[in-house]
Amino acid sequence: MLDVESIRRDFPILNKGVIYLDSAASSLTPEQVVLKEMEFYREYRANVERGVHRFSQRASEEYENAHDEVARFIGAKGRENVAMISNTTEGINLVANSMDWSKDDKIVTTVIEHHSNFITWLRVKQRYGPEVEVVKSSIEGIFDLGDFEKAIDDSTKIVAVTHVSNVLGCIVPVKEIAGIAHDHGAKILVDGAQGVPHIKTDVLESKVDFLAFSGHKMLGPTGSGGLYISDTELEATEPLCIGGGTIADVSIDDYTLAVPPMKYEAGTPAIAQVIGFGEACRYLNRVGMENVEAWDLKLANRLLDGLSEIEGVEVFGPKNPRQRVGLATFNIEGMNPHDTALTLDQEYDIAVRSGHHCALPLMKELFKADEGNARASTYLYNTLEEIDILISAVEEIARY
Ligand code: ALA
Repeated sequence: MLDVESIRRDFPILNKGVIYLDSAASSLTPEQVVLKEMEFYREYRANVERGVHRFSQRASEEYENAHDEVARFIGAKGRENVAMISNTTEGINLVANSMDWSKDDKIVTTVIEHHSNFITWLRVKQRYGPEVEVVKSSIEGIFDLGDFEKAIDDSTKIVAVTHVSNVLGCIVPVKEIAGIAHDHGAKILVDGAQGVPHIKTDVLESKVDFLAFSGHKMLGPTGSGGLYISDTELEATEPLCIGGGTIADVSIDDYTLAVPPMKYEAGTPAIAQVIGFGEACRYLNRVGMENVEAWDLKLANRLLDGLSEIEGVEVFGPKNPRQRVGLATFNIEGMNPHDTALTLDQEYDIAVRSGHHCALPLMKELFKADEGNARASTYLYNTLEEIDILISAVEEIARY
């Protein structure tokens, strides 16, 4: 089990008097990552892959090492399989824009997706005409695999699903869905924004074709993210932008793209952020993702048990903590979720998110309402005592 008190010492922001329960929106960053980024600016700030001088050499080496670290973290074969991008959204857009579409194609996605993994596909439909089939879940976010069997057919080009819902916290069986997709020759793209930070990821084992994830939700800097592309898709997957850094050769009337991941990283990249992202993966590896998962389950248990027992509070998502990560959305009867979040911040120094969480289809289809809810989301630095304080605060607010 992880030593939460020792972990908390790496996050001086935790001494600011705020209980931070908004890690699903963006996690906090440990000193190790901040210092690693500062080291770039202070010690060897230069562009990467473009200079023979010592600063550029060092920057390139650190930049490449970070790629290796991130690739290892998700179980990828090598750095060529992971493009460094700015966030999950960019990764999903890259894949959608890289594919050739016709109106005879089909895209299968789900009702619980974040807008990033939903409107991107609706845009493809609006532009090129493929059908977008939306698989529904139960109100808790539990899927029947039979519904994927029915939705995915031989015309399906891609199945785009999240690993973990940012609203319900439920864990989606992506490996099984990948199997169904591949049986029909379809690709699978997984939105890993909420899954990769909490659950040990092994892309080779789950056999996904694409996995998009964000560094800033897993202790890394904002503006850092990764897109895993399997070996079989590397050749066909086009970059979103091309330009400096993405080419092997250019003549007056032609060009050849560089090998991956360089072909995906046009222009001067977010060097410090990528280096910081690598350090974040190193940090999580040192703690051990099995420990992160076990702690997550403890926090999820306490959160769920506590909130569910409060009269006048409705908690959403799976009742079984094993089916979810440490995230709970809830509503206090008769209270707008933004007022709940504001009261928690102003009166109790607790930071939670409120609203529709960029998941309006879920709100409208499953909850039949779009005012949203309040969301408390945890990470490895949260304590059980913090959860208890939240529960008492919600209890008090619900009582008055
Ligand atoms: N996608 C992030 C969230 O769910 C921002 O809060």
